[in-house]
Amino acid sequence: MGFLPSDCFEHSKFLFFIFFIVVNLDSLPIKANLCSNNSVATPRNIPAHDILSSLQTLALDGYFNLEDNGHAAKDFGNIYHCPPLAILHPKAVSDISRTIKHIYEIDSASELKIAARGHGHSLQGQAQAYQGLVVNMESLEGPEMTVDAGEFPYVDVSAGMLWINILHETLKHGLAPKSWTDYLHLTVGGTLSNAGISGQAFRHGPQIDNIFQLEVVTGKGEVLTCSENQNADLFYGVLGGLGQFGIITRARVSLEPAPTKVKWIRVLYSEFSVFAMDQEYLISLENTFDYVEGFVIKNRTGILNNWRSSFNPKDPLQASQFNSDGRTFYCLEVAKYFYIDENEAMNQEVERLLSELSYIPSTLFQSEVSYVDFLDRVHVSEMKLRAKGSWEVPHPWLNLLIPRSRIHEFVHEVFEKILVDTSNGPILVYPVNQSRWNNRTSLVTPEEEVFYLVAFLSSAVPFSKGKDSLEYIQSQNERIKEFCKRAQVGAKQYLAHYKTGEEWEGHFGKRWQVIRRRKSEYDPLALLGPGHRIFQKPIFSTSV
Ligand SMILES: Cc1cc2nc3c(=O)[nH]c(=O)nc-3n(C[C@H](O)[C@H](O)[C@H](O)COP(=O)(O)OP(=O)(O)OC[C@H]3O[C@@H](n4cnc5c(N)ncnc54)[C@H](O)[C@@H]3O)c2cc1C
Ligand SMILES: *[C@@H]1O[C@H](CO)[C@@H](O)[C@H](O)[C@H]1NC(C)=O
Ligand SMILES: *[C@@H]1O[C@H](CO)[C@@H](O)[C@H](O)[C@H]1NC(C)=O
Ligand SMILES: *[C@@H]1O[C@H](CO)[C@@H](O)[C@H](O)[C@H]1NC(C)=O
Ligand SMILES: *[C@@H]1O[C@H](CO)[C@@H](O)[C@H](O)[C@H]1NC(C)=O
Repeated sequence: MGFLPSDCFEHSKFLFFIFFIVVNLDSLPIKANLCSNNSVATPRNIPAHDILSSLQTLALDGYFNLEDNGHAAKDFGNIYHCPPLAILHPKAVSDISRTIKHIYEIDSASELKIAARGHGHSLQGQAQAYQGLVVNMESLEGPEMTVDAGEFPYVDVSAGMLWINILHETLKHGLAPKSWTDYLHLTVGGTLSNAGISGQAFRHGPQIDNIFQLEVVTGKGEVLTCSENQNADLFYGVLGGLGQFGIITRARVSLEPAPTKVKWIRVLYSEFSVFAMDQEYLISLENTFDYVEGFVIKNRTGILNNWRSSFNPKDPLQASQFNSDGRTFYCLEVAKYFYIDENEAMNQEVERLLSELSYIPSTLFQSEVSYVDFLDRVHVSEMKLRAKGSWEVPHPWLNLLIPRSRIHEFVHEVFEKILVDTSNGPILVYPVNQSRWNNRTSLVTPEEEVFYLVAFLSSAVPFSKGKDSLEYIQSQNERIKEFCKRAQVGAKQYLAHYKTGEEWEGHFGKRWQVIRRRKSEYDPLALLGPGHRIFQKPIFSTSV
């Protein structure tokens, strides 16, 4: 993989590349089809531009921007840079539906693809639309956020809203969403298109299992309300649906009473088998911690602070002196929620739970923080990394879901043979039991009840040639994926990235027919979500 998409879109080479496409289409190497196979494989005829100029005649509350599209060709991954022709900044839902309907009605050749863009924290261009139209969801103005504090409390939000803002609003009512991501500066539409998995998912399921209702604009431009009881097929299709069946415009998110404080704990293990046994034990209990995660530390110092948290233990001296020195440790991270006046009961409960675990006794690190500080923990690190210029670097992340029966083999191979250390970024490892998760959503998980999320959250150092370079980390990721394939581990990618429709078919497995049918029903011209490269062509008939 010598060819990197970032190479061809570096600022200095950018103009050259555009020129190259126009003039030299036929000789473009296949490998350059990294933005969109479709638009490179068929000659760029005029329709996309034609459609754009006719779009500008629509009466909208928002507006189209045809210049200065650079930011829509960027994402957190910082690896793919595929510029669109235009950005729609919608104000109302009708702006989105009118635009899509217009394109759908005149565009039988599906030249102009459409991608919803939340906060652009995708990793491999998933929210980009090469030579297409990007819908900037953050400019959508809905009705105000409204909290219903009834028997089954919920909040109605616009899909472009950041989870951090939802947290602040619902807390005014003493309520909060139940299931989170580790980082809250992500939009509702963006995480619901994937799943939203974090340390609460073992208990509540991912974020997509905590939604009562959605408003969706389909690939035909229809605006539909959907829920378990109304347009259920679309509802479950869109949840975890990678933006393939519609653009989510509003969501009704389930809430619970919010705690005020959090006891946040880290303990270390030297054996993976003991660590995993304790994690699996904790997630099997009825009365347990409210959050269970974990991560791997290999040959590092200053191990207790990694970038994804602002963990500040009671004994920072002991923590900072901890040195894994060539060895591998597994850090269990748990949290217990409580209210200020419940301090004593909480401490007893935590002690009881900890007494049942087999961690290295001298490695108990604890901290007490507010609920908001706990949930928003990554943001503190973001600020520090931004200040150092280390936030906007390439992020070649790899997220895998590994069946429980194969996790020991996986850990042995990856952490003892493939990875030399964990200095490129945190590597999360924690189990969930999906028996109570909703299996009607589009999310793909391994077949077993219990599986582990293993997240390699690497940052690459620009221009480096060493073990922290993008090339090196990507090749390491390839070796990990290769191993999973060769050993038939039964792993599934989360926030998956594939280059061809065939690979996607393998990813969806038994669900592929359902996915295809839903595509033909809700987005038959395959206008939506081009950045994933699942469907390149219209699906007029279903072969189910
Ligand atoms: C620092 C960091 C930490 C993270 N931690 C976690 C974590 O703990 N758990 C977890 O599950 N994920 C995590 N993620 C991944 C994150 O959930 C996804 O990257 C998510 O897509 C980002 O949301 P966004 O709003 O930036 O989406 P974007 O990148 O803008 O979009 C993501 C995808 O959803 C589509 N989309 C966006 N909005 C809509 C909409 N309204 N309707 C339909 N489709 C839409 C886009 O077209 C694209 O395909 C993390 C990411 C980062 C950068
Ligand atoms: C791109 O599409 C063409 C025709 O649609 C196909 O023959 C080719 O294999 C595709 N290439 C890739 C890299 O997917
Ligand atoms: C651990 O890291 C140090 C410094 O980065 C390095 O010199 C040493 O070889 C590493 N040890 C192992 C066992 O990889
Ligand atoms: C998963 O959870 C279900 C329901 O709580 C339980 O019956 C089952 O034993 C759990 N599976 C494992 C492997 O722990
Ligand atoms: C989904 O779960 C239900 C209830 O647990 C089960 O009966 C059904 O077979 C499952 N469906 C799939 C596709 O796994």
